[in-house]
Amino acid sequence: MLAYLNGQYLPRSSATIPVEDRGFIFGDGVYEVWRAVNGRLFETDRHLARLAFGLRELRIAAPDIARRDILEAVADRLFTESGLLDGEATLYVEITRGVAPRTHQFPPVGTAPTIFAMANRFNPPNDVRSRGASAITAPDIRWLRCDIKTIQLLPNVMAKQAAAERGAMEALMIRDGVVTEGSHANVLGVIDGVIRTHPLGNLILPGITRAVVLEIAHALSIPVHEAAFTERDIARLNECFLAGTTADVMPIVRVNDQPIGSGAPGPITVRLFNEFRAYLDASCAAASASP
Ligand SMILES: Cc1ncc(COP(=O)(O)O)c(C=O)c1O
Repeated sequence: MLAYLNGQYLPRSSATIPVEDRGFIFGDGVYEVWRAVNGRLFETDRHLARLAFGLRELRIAAPDIARRDILEAVADRLFTESGLLDGEATLYVEITRGVAPRTHQFPPVGTAPTIFAMANRFNPPNDVRSRGASAITAPDIRWLRCDIKTIQLLPNVMAKQAAAERGAMEALMIRDGVVTEGSHANVLGVIDGVIRTHPLGNLILPGITRAVVLEIAHALSIPVHEAAFTERDIARLNECFLAGTTADVMPIVRVNDQPIGSGAPGPITVRLFNEFRAYLDASCAAASASP
């Protein structure tokens, strides 16, 4: 597989970074993951806006790849040369503050950021989706800037591992008694026909899938209340689902071994998934039709 590193295309196995890269030493960087269908990126601009926000907040100078035309050119070459122009794929982009002797404060102005990108085949987890997935709850021990998509993912890694060790797909993270989000997806619930989800702010990542799903819900006149539900509310959820670039809309039918609603994917979740999937396919197809 091909990788992009600092302006060069090379086999992924040959793409190496110096040990003093601040991403390696401090986790000092941001990343993005796009979904792609038939070589076309989904929601290019929204992901770029989130990337620009993270770079600004961390005061890392935005490199060229944060521009739409450059990103699309890199994506095209990676998809083409990795045989990913047909079917489903993901594009991963990471930007770190660059290479410098280890000291906490920023390196000298002009230190070049490290820019890495790779494309991967993606197989949507449709088997699990049709049955529904299970989740556990786990304490949300992350910092207070979860709105920045940093590469510092250790609490997310620990939460996901705890889930995997209990045979679950995801961990619903709990802070001060409320469900914030999952380890790698936003979490939405349905109580009495109303979609509930943690509001935007510093405690969750502003998920692109979450945003699209909420727009779809509005278009379908499904009521949405952007208010967190508590850990205790989990027992009275009629439906629960994840929203994320690799989850799409994923029903959660058990939490801590207790069924949610009927214990099967609920009607609102299934409807939102079907609408989301149609929108994903249509918007990627429209992107390939445009010049
Ligand atoms: C912590 C967290 N929340 C939510 C999401 C979902 O965001 P998106 O829909 O933009 O993929 C992700 C995606 O990686 C994530 O890591």
